[in-house]
Amino acid sequence: MKKNRIFLSPPHIGHQENENVSKAFSSNWISTTGPYVDEFEKKLAKHCERNYSCVVQSGTAAIHLAIRVLGISKGDTVLCQSFTFIGSCNPVIYEKANLIFIDSEKETWNMCPNSLRIALEDCRKRKIHPKAIIVVHLYGMPAKMDEILSIANEFKVAVIEDAAEALGSKLNDKPCGSFGRLSILSFNGNKIITTSGGGALVSNNLADINEANFLSTQAKENKPFYEHKKVGYNYKLSNILASIGVAQLEKINNRVDKRRKNYTFYHRLLKNKRGVSFLNEPKGFFSNRWLTCIIIDEKKCGISVDQVISEFEEDKIETRRLWKPMHMQPVFKNIPFYGTGISNLLFEKGLCLPSGSNIKGKDKKRIKEKLIKIFSLK
Ligand SMILES: Cc1ncc(COP(=O)(O)O)c(C=O)c1O
Repeated sequence: MKKNRIFLSPPHIGHQENENVSKAFSSNWISTTGPYVDEFEKKLAKHCERNYSCVVQSGTAAIHLAIRVLGISKGDTVLCQSFTFIGSCNPVIYEKANLIFIDSEKETWNMCPNSLRIALEDCRKRKIHPKAIIVVHLYGMPAKMDEILSIANEFKVAVIEDAAEALGSKLNDKPCGSFGRLSILSFNGNKIITTSGGGALVSNNLADINEANFLSTQAKENKPFYEHKKVGYNYKLSNILASIGVAQLEKINNRVDKRRKNYTFYHRLLKNKRGVSFLNEPKGFFSNRWLTCIIIDEKKCGISVDQVISEFEEDKIETRRLWKPMHMQPVFKNIPFYGTGISNLLFEKGLCLPSGSNIKGKDKKRIKEKLIKIFSLK
């Protein structure tokens, strides 16, 4: 019998999404204004315990707008978590600003507060005043925001919270998306909720969100003709895609629950396997478990990450290495990096396992059988 492919993190959509799209069509609100855009913005802001939001076509666009809203331009400096997806930092390059990469720490795999402090002290010595810190909650695990915000405050640097992977995660009961001056979200097809492609900026600062809205719609001045004093973008999300987002957001708790159950499934199977470890939640940290990741110590368990990937692939099961840190990327080879190389190790030994909120029971059975074989589980 032909086997279906099990994807890492496929979209999970239902009837309501379909109905909303039909409604958007039949109402003729198919462009970048309309009731679903307003509703999605309102509900996202509420979910993130923020006052305002602006929905756009991608998380990367949201970061670009955050960079512009903060007035970051040529020659300015931005500190960014190295262990992330490239969308977190590319917009800094779009504006010809300078990047500095910061390593991760072991407990959350996110920005290391110690390395951040060392980098900021070094900047101070060199009379550089960074304009922003981009901190990421990778795989849904919140970063150590208390420490990071307090350091940012001390050095008077704005924080952009990249919560692209962390909708539904919490830190001491505060939602990811509620920290820092501006937060961004992604609704890319692989995320915990999706609009096919999309993103958002959320903030408590009305002026920031107004400026983001202005820039996302070509920076048109409020005149009866087309006048532009600034360069803007065509970034705003359409009412059709926002209609999908409204239906998806309703289900966020269910999606978090499903992804956390995936984590428990893998953890139960592998927790006693020598050489395999997981990312635990420190006290007060609640992860949406967007992707379940494991660290494989080849010396202890006798199998390499590449071997595990190809074993799964033989059975049409998609797995993926953890993000390759930005300071290891050829495109960023001359960019300064502060840290001890924790993120290098995570990249070397880490693996993401199939984590969709719609994995079927029979697919889990296939994954389980494969894991039993790969790791010779009893
Ligand atoms: C951590 C992180 N930041 C930013 C982005 C960019 O989002 P988008 O793909 O919607 O542009 C993504 C993912 O796609 C991401 O995982």
